[in-house]
Amino acid sequence: LLCPSMGPHMSKVMESKLQHKIAKNKALLFALGGRLDMEGALTTRDRVGIQDFVLLDETTEVAIISNLKKRFSKDLIYTYIGTLIVSVNPYKDLDIYNKKQMDVYMGVNFFELPPHIYALADNAYHTMLTEFNNHFILISGESGAGKTEASKKILQYYAVSCPSTTLMNTVRDKMLMSNPVLEAFGNAKTLKNDNSSRFGKYMDIQFDSQGDAVGGHILNYLLEKSRVVHQNHGERNFHVFYQLVEGGSDDLLTQLGLKRDVQHYYYLTQGECAIVSSINDKNDWKSVKNALQVIEFDETNTNHLFRVVASVLHLGNVHFDPDSKGHALLKNNTELNWVSDLLGVDANNLKEGLTFRKIEAKTEQVLSPFTIDHAIYVRDALAKAIYGQTFTWLVNRINESMENKDSPRKTVIGLLDIYGFEVFYVNSFEQFCINYCNEKLQQLFIQLTLKAEQEEYEAEGIEWEPVQFFNNKIICDLVEEKHRGIISILDEECLRPGDATDLTFLDRLEEKMGNHPHFVTHRLADKMTRKTLERGDFRLLHYAGEVTYCVVGFLDKNNDLLYRNIKNVICLLQECFSAVDTTNKRRPETVATQFKNSLQKLTEMLMAKEAWYIRCLKSNESKQPGQFDEALIRHQVKYLGLMEHLRVRRAGFAYRRKYEDFLKRYKPLCPATWPHWRGMPADGVEVLAQHLGYLPDEYKMGRTKIFIRHPRTLYATEDAYEKCKHDLGNASKLNFNFMSSATKIETCWRGAQARKEKEKRAWAVKVIKKFIKAYINRGEAKSTDNSEYLAFVRQSYLNRLKNNLPKTVLDKTTWLTPPAVLTQASEILRKLHYRLMVRKYVRGIPPQKKLQMKVVTSAIFKGKKENYPPSIPQLFLDTRISEQEINIRVLSMIRNEQVKYSVPVIKYDRNGFKPRPRQFILTKTAAYLVEEAKIKQRVSYNSLKGISVSNLSDGIIVIHITCEDPKQKGDLIIQCEHLYEFLTKLSIIANKQDAIKVVQGSIKIQIQSGKENSVDFTTGQEPMVYKAKNGHLMVVSINK
Ligand SMILES: Nc1ncnc2c1ncn2[C@@H]1O[C@H](COP(=O)(O)OP(=O)(O)OP(=O)(O)O)[C@@H](O)[C@H]1O
Ligand SMILES: [Mg+2]
Repeated sequence: LLCPSMGPHMSKVMESKLQHKIAKNKALLFALGGRLDMEGALTTRDRVGIQDFVLLDETTEVAIISNLKKRFSKDLIYTYIGTLIVSVNPYKDLDIYNKKQMDVYMGVNFFELPPHIYALADNAYHTMLTEFNNHFILISGESGAGKTEASKKILQYYAVSCPSTTLMNTVRDKMLMSNPVLEAFGNAKTLKNDNSSRFGKYMDIQFDSQGDAVGGHILNYLLEKSRVVHQNHGERNFHVFYQLVEGGSDDLLTQLGLKRDVQHYYYLTQGECAIVSSINDKNDWKSVKNALQVIEFDETNTNHLFRVVASVLHLGNVHFDPDSKGHALLKNNTELNWVSDLLGVDANNLKEGLTFRKIEAKTEQVLSPFTIDHAIYVRDALAKAIYGQTFTWLVNRINESMENKDSPRKTVIGLLDIYGFEVFYVNSFEQFCINYCNEKLQQLFIQLTLKAEQEEYEAEGIEWEPVQFFNNKIICDLVEEKHRGIISILDEECLRPGDATDLTFLDRLEEKMGNHPHFVTHRLADKMTRKTLERGDFRLLHYAGEVTYCVVGFLDKNNDLLYRNIKNVICLLQECFSAVDTTNKRRPETVATQFKNSLQKLTEMLMAKEAWYIRCLKSNESKQPGQFDEALIRHQVKYLGLMEHLRVRRAGFAYRRKYEDFLKRYKPLCPATWPHWRGMPADGVEVLAQHLGYLPDEYKMGRTKIFIRHPRTLYATEDAYEKCKHDLGNASKLNFNFMSSATKIETCWRGAQARKEKEKRAWAVKVIKKFIKAYINRGEAKSTDNSEYLAFVRQSYLNRLKNNLPKTVLDKTTWLTPPAVLTQASEILRKLHYRLMVRKYVRGIPPQKKLQMKVVTSAIFKGKKENYPPSIPQLFLDTRISEQEINIRVLSMIRNEQVKYSVPVIKYDRNGFKPRPRQFILTKTAAYLVEEAKIKQRVSYNSLKGISVSNLSDGIIVIHITCEDPKQKGDLIIQCEHLYEFLTKLSIIANKQDAIKVVQGSIKIQIQSGKENSVDFTTGQEPMVYKAKNGHLMVVSINK
């Protein structure tokens, strides 16, 4: 009730609050609606900082970090950039991942609740279901930032929240349980993370059309195999080795020839931290064993796995002594025998492979002994190969187990848990690959985000505005371009004959990349930059920042060579290595090229899906809860490209929201929309925007959403909203609990409305029933059953008739067929209507006189002369000859008499009946027969004895004249086309109505000298007037 009064003061309030807000940098933006409004504590917590970076007023790194810090201090680890989630690792268990929380986020709009990884998971899921398309969630961040944890949380969310059947539960369990197994084999303790994933993982979760999780598929990338044989200080080998030694049963260890002592194994102790307090290998072993059962690993496969793991441990303990020539000799055969036993390969072959190189000449094979270093290199290469292949094999088996062959219509949500940008003090080949991968993913992000933005603008009918951002394609090309990119040059160096070394590789790079703006080396650099580079370094200016790579080891790591005879050994491990084709003499693809190709495939696959992003940040290096290391965060913000992301997201319009949602939240701010807006939501939003004083450039109305350009506009609106809520709160304190009263009133109102509606419906049912019964009885006599129906029929007919009446008197066909009850009434109405039309018509005829004359005509001729009826509709004119057409001399002669009417006639001579065209002029006192300038005859009305016409359809008129007048030549015979008009006028002007006779047969005429003649009338084929043989004038008219 208070809100509407705020309207006029809005802009002032908005302005002052805006300043205040920017200074204090606190705003509650979206998430106060719905359920959480009631939970005061949560609401207050959620107000900390800004929940979406898109709405930060200034997009500086400082503002971003300060907002993250503020939220982190209150354990708010998630913040949005649009639909991207930034997550900061809290290093402590937060109570935000329970079932209750999952329920809260289920099926709720993204922005209705505080940022949470569940919101993203849920929205991806629901979008997939409604749009039936594929999605992926890209989780990136540096080691220890929380990627794997995030992906597990998402998987758990789906496991709990998706509908499921018993059958599907198995698939679901398998997906969940694939994690501990893969982590045992692919994760390790590193300096940065006690459970660091040492491989890139992409997992598809497949859903059927009902939204059940029905299957899964995993792709793995770039396992860090070097860890099998070497670990830095403070780091461990892959977990599984320690788990087996610590947790395996005595029997199993005996079978595998292992001692329960991790310190005994060379491959487990180089980092000098085989036992770590934070890791419980024994328990983890149990989990892995259990997980293997869930994912249906049978005994053979499980045995196989353990044997390979044990064989690697034994292989690490194979040591060499030099012989007299410095060639490598096995120290003792025990470990080697265990390896051959466990892998089922011939011990001698294995021994030979480890100590000799087989060189194939044209006809023979020569064995060349290794030095100790060389033998160790080969041993390690073998261990890496065995482990690497086993890992791939393991992933394949898991995939088989999770595969769903049944339902054909599947959509997927992919989870990509992949290494973020890595920048160490010394960066090598691995970092080069990882950072290249991140460049590719950034490129994918640009393409997908811009595409999505563009598509949204298009769908909403909003003009696309070009976005300013850095496109990192140039760096992707620098790395991957065919024949010219760094990988191609590296491959060339690896494959070319001669002494290729890491440094010659660097030379080649400098040669080819010399001018590239994103590539620099010690030699190419200017003075200042040179100081920051070693001679063996090259630096790439990645989109996220600079990374300096040391070329040492690039060739070796890229080659990943395994000599042929040792390959022959491992090919005996049929199961694991079926993919290795030892007969193929072509060199296998290099590691970088394999990685490049798999990335290419991955990006192609992701391009076809809709993207969601989670960017994980590590809060501190010491894995401590509550510590927010600003420098570390700044570094990650930079290398995760958050600023770039924000820039792309904010380009154009920073905020957009569906009309319904926008109106629902802000409707209290305008009297016209509060408490209800009855029209279309878009119109309501427009009214609201106008009322709030939005300038035309500040917002755009799309088809379903409002787009707001600057965050500050929304801030101001949000402030006003806050104030409005606050005022409502005060009002309630002072007087009454407004909200609950409002709710009560609303409840009562709704109740009353519902009751009314109920009554209306009951009434409707009664009416419809009655109607049907009456319809059935419609033919019966009027009774209580059908009287209302019949009344309805009458009314309906009359209404229809009203709209379909004939429009003209002549229209005799249009008349709606009446229902039986109205036949009589319809006939009466029809007559009435025609009479009405006739009356109207008659009234519409211009001079009344004409009609009166017609009455005279009718009195004289009706029923007497044959062609009278067709003449009726022909209107009488004032005259047939205008005064201009009458000779001036004639006019001057009769000027005193006032001309009343003139008409052209044909006059027949009295003797020879010769036809002569004349004008016949009627004045007040006499009629004149005129030939041009001459008046041939004047007939004063006094001397006009009578007028005769025939009863046929000819136009002959005989004017009888008194013979007393000596000036007269006798009766006049004329023929006139306008007979009725002429005679009516004559009779009126001369007052001679009674003088007109209609005769049959013939008319006698008097000729001057007392002679008589006759005009005879007859009918024939065609009209004729001629002098007949008997001397009479014969008039033939058409026989009707
Ligand atoms: N949401 C979280 N809540 C509590 N602790 C977390 C959370 N995310 C991560 N952690 C802690 O951080 C550790 C490292 O997380 P995680 O293994 O997910 O990192 P990562 O990004 O996958 O690193 P890597 O690249 O090395 O695999 C976890 O073992 C856990 O202790
Ligand atoms: Mg991980």
